[in-house]
Amino acid sequence: MKHRLFINGDYVDAATGEMFDVVDPSNNNVVHRVARGGAKDIDAAVKAARAAFDTGPWPRMTGVQRAEVLRRMGDEIAARTDALARMEVLDNGKPLPEAVWDIEDTAAVFHFYADLAERLDTEAEETVDLGMDGFTSKAVKEPVGVAGAIIPWNFPMLMASWKVAPALAAGCTIVLKPSEVTPLTALELGEIANKAGLPAGALNIVTGFGAEAGQPLTEHPLVDKLAFTGSVPTGSRIMATAAKDVKTLSLELGGKSPLVVFADTPIDEAVEWILFGIFWNQGEVCSATSRVLIEAPIYDAVMARLVVETRKIKIGHGLEEGVLLGPLVNKAQHEKVLAAIQTGRDAGARVVVGGGVPDGLEHGCYVEPTILADAPLDSWVWTEEIFGPVVCVRPFTTEAEAVDLANRSDYGLAAAVMSADTARAERVARAFRAGIVWINCSQPTFTQAPWGGYKKSGIGRELGVWGLNNYLETKQITTWDRSKPWGWYIKG
Ligand code: NAI
Ligand code: MG
Repeated sequence: MKHRLFINGDYVDAATGEMFDVVDPSNNNVVHRVARGGAKDIDAAVKAARAAFDTGPWPRMTGVQRAEVLRRMGDEIAARTDALARMEVLDNGKPLPEAVWDIEDTAAVFHFYADLAERLDTEAEETVDLGMDGFTSKAVKEPVGVAGAIIPWNFPMLMASWKVAPALAAGCTIVLKPSEVTPLTALELGEIANKAGLPAGALNIVTGFGAEAGQPLTEHPLVDKLAFTGSVPTGSRIMATAAKDVKTLSLELGGKSPLVVFADTPIDEAVEWILFGIFWNQGEVCSATSRVLIEAPIYDAVMARLVVETRKIKIGHGLEEGVLLGPLVNKAQHEKVLAAIQTGRDAGARVVVGGGVPDGLEHGCYVEPTILADAPLDSWVWTEEIFGPVVCVRPFTTEAEAVDLANRSDYGLAAAVMSADTARAERVARAFRAGIVWINCSQPTFTQAPWGGYKKSGIGRELGVWGLNNYLETKQITTWDRSKPWGWYIKG
């Protein structure tokens, strides 16, 4: 496992020589130590990225050439799937099959953006019809410059790929600041990039804390664009910082996403997606459907089955066979989620199942999968992101009420609806004020489709062609036919 920063193509120590602990949340043991990057390291990384952009080969290569490197990075990641997935389990706690899925997705993201990089060679130029004789014009897409990317801990390597792959495909150079909670897999990207032949400086990775490494990256005057995924307060702060230099910005923040289940949904189908919507990845998912609205006629039947199925979920170490719920990512998140459940109880919510630390797993950051009923609409647990395996459930009686309750939120990342009536499902999908809507499922995420939120859930879209556009500027090049005199000052 790597432990040093990756700057200008080399692994180097932090300027201060300091390190910080990497902790396994299944037992809270320190398993590794990595470099504690700070302002000096960020400055070195940004300058390396700046030089690689301003004078290096990367932005000047054709899309086809960049695609070759990105494809090799994807291949290299795929070849290391098992090792990287195990590293993710060690650092984040998630069950191995989910970690394997993450790494396979990560490789696929590099392959996808390799294809888009190739398309830039032919599609980055568009003729603009000015409707005026003597002028011709075209719109040209160009890389935005040096990107600063700051990512969270819930999908450590996948979140890195969502920013690194499209940025590199566009011809940008990038400085990546992984979460201090899960720095391991992102650091491997340096070696992977070198092996794939990425020019030095095109990708730089600085591990460290938000205030010490993240903040200087957002403040650095040589950074053109910031891309952030994480909490709303940090996103809001980064936006304020970016405003000083008018940096281009994309934000993917939290949510409190609703899942509306109509009574014509088979019970087992409803239960399957309610569980997947909140317990997958321990509920540490920005798009988790953490508010479930169930149409009154099937409410009792769904709740009864939910309790039965929730009790069957195997909780334990991520490497243990059959485990579907691992520990939360660290002690802070463990305490936060347990406190949230207490807040719910205090506000009058009823714990239908779960609610505490599972027996025999007190040595790690484990929390039982938890279902809360009757949470008041203005209670913290109903309105705010818990980021753990805790779901709030309420009944509803009409479609209008369901849509109103679903949209009554400061957030608008995702929303889901289940119904056998396709016209109704489509109608509700359109009525949701959210950037990602699922019909008859919740959570499946595809590299090809746009990802991002309305309202406080963020700005801009990642993934698909939208994710590439995040890292492109548009320039107009307009030409005057000089055979004609303009004739404003100099009269013919
Ligand atoms: P955070 O949003 O503070 O951290 C995310 C990233 O931002 C990390 O890399 C961190 O080092 C960096 N960061 C922190 N402060 C910064 C600053 N001032 N300037 C620049 N970068 C900064 O989230 P954190 O502290 O890891 O978790 C807090 C809560 O946020 C969690 O309990 C969870 O509820 C929520 N969260 C939501 C996520 C989402 O995807 N919606 C992801 C991670 C956390
Ligand atoms: Mg860790």
